[in-house]
Amino acid sequence: MNEIRNDHKLMKDAPVGVFDSGLGGLTVVREIMRQLPEEDIVYFGDTARVPYGSKSNDTIIYFSRQITHFLKTKHVKAIVVACNTASALALPTVNEEVDVPMIGVVEPGAIAAAKATRTGNVGVIGTQATVSSGIYTKVIGALDPTISVIGKACPLFVPMVEEGLVDHPVMMQMIDYYLGSMKESSMDALVLGCTHYPLLRSRIHEYLGDAITLVNPAYETAMGLKNLLAENGLLRDARGTKKQAAADLYVSDLPERFKEFANSILPIDIDRVKTVNIEQY
Ligand code: DGL
Repeated sequence: MNEIRNDHKLMKDAPVGVFDSGLGGLTVVREIMRQLPEEDIVYFGDTARVPYGSKSNDTIIYFSRQITHFLKTKHVKAIVVACNTASALALPTVNEEVDVPMIGVVEPGAIAAAKATRTGNVGVIGTQATVSSGIYTKVIGALDPTISVIGKACPLFVPMVEEGLVDHPVMMQMIDYYLGSMKESSMDALVLGCTHYPLLRSRIHEYLGDAITLVNPAYETAMGLKNLLAENGLLRDARGTKKQAAADLYVSDLPERFKEFANSILPIDIDRVKTVNIEQY
């Protein structure tokens, strides 16, 4: 009996694994840290192989499977697929193959969008792979078949965010280029369906105005993770005076650049980002 209780406690104290094709998934980690400050995190960013958004389904599944194997070696108790592209294309397959609960960002984003719209017209922006998969249309349609969804791939947003051009005037031109037609439509909720887009939130809001609600799936994903852990009896107990848990960050390339970005967006100090040869997994 005691052993069972100890095992269960060990599982509760295990970290949550989170992965993305690169650094954008830290926007999801930030939200998890806000809502679940007692949970430790092990994060993997596939900086050597990013972007996923322009790759084939098979490649995205193959990469996601390797990362899941790596996270399993860290004894994670649950896995968050923080990447929209991997959530859209790999999660259904990989989820079947592992024995830890998994959650992606698409379903939480779709739920938030269905709640946010009043006109029944939702826009979704994401990578080419996410938008072509039609996954948001499918999931939102299953929640409420009266909602119509318009998708738009915005492939240049990711490199522009990575180049630090969020506040540059050219960013506004790019937003106008991609979102001009959506602005004229009757859409009243727009899903930021890519990990990097929450970093453009204020610029997109400046362009679209108050009438269109911007949906950041990260917020609902952290809530979904809380429910998933609770359902599986895996929520960590509050940890007394220590407010924020630890985060162990791993990448497949360029750890220094990643560390800088992590320190600019996470509420804790990151002193080290480790490099992993992901091809071994
Ligand atoms: N993380 C990806 C996503 O959320 C964006 C970057 C990429 O194309 O890999 O879809």
